[in-house]
Amino acid sequence: MKYFDTHCHIDFSHFDRDREEVIKRAKDMGVVYIVDVGIDVETTKKAIELAEKYEFIYASAGIHPSEVNNSSENALNEMETLAKNKKVVAIGETGLDYHYSGIIKEKQKGFFKAQIEIARKLNLPLIIHQRESKEDLIKILEESDLPEKIVFHCFDGDEELEKYCEERGFYISFTGIVTFKNALKVKEVAKNYPVEKIMAETDAPFLSPHPFRGKRNEPMFVKYIIKEIAELKGVNLEKISEIIFTNSLHFFNLTPGVRSN
Ligand code: NI
Repeated sequence: MKYFDTHCHIDFSHFDRDREEVIKRAKDMGVVYIVDVGIDVETTKKAIELAEKYEFIYASAGIHPSEVNNSSENALNEMETLAKNKKVVAIGETGLDYHYSGIIKEKQKGFFKAQIEIARKLNLPLIIHQRESKEDLIKILEESDLPEKIVFHCFDGDEELEKYCEERGFYISFTGIVTFKNALKVKEVAKNYPVEKIMAETDAPFLSPHPFRGKRNEPMFVKYIIKEIAELKGVNLEKISEIIFTNSLHFFNLTPGVRSN
């Protein structure tokens, strides 16, 4: 079976010791594509470096809402310049995260709007991170000119947000959380969401799927997420695996012949 880890951070220092082995293991286990996702200017640069070194790795350029406080306005310009690299296949992760205290909501909103605009301008799909910020996030999406394709990564929403995403034709991407026994809400979303709009991601080094929960995550574990989705939907594993792979190719415009490098 072929797998696509649509969202991970293997540029992080967690992998400094054995990054090459992790990448080799992924490839050996059938991970055909990896998208390494930037969370600020520095990690976006590292993601691009990896993408330039390994043919099957691509990069996403973005400033994560949690990194906005530490970012200058110029960071957006730098990010936009980096996003023009030919191995960059998406903008993000961006969005709103109101979980921690001390955040500046207005600055987060500004960075989110700017990145929506960059995605639209460069005609790239957008990777959204949402945490405890549903109302403001929907409001901004409703007021903006959106790029063609949007994914809610590591979906952590309720039924209302799920409905909204479905109505708007957005993609939802599932992490190892969907394999956790107590993640009933997320399991329900995976069960019900239209299969042609589902993707899978590890978000490595975080959120290892069961039975590796609590350990460092890595791209080869993406198959456990797909296996869980197959079980929840009651669909044949090979079939769902193929569908999720095709969805991911389509989302990142990597369909053979359309973009090859
Ligand atoms: Ni992430």
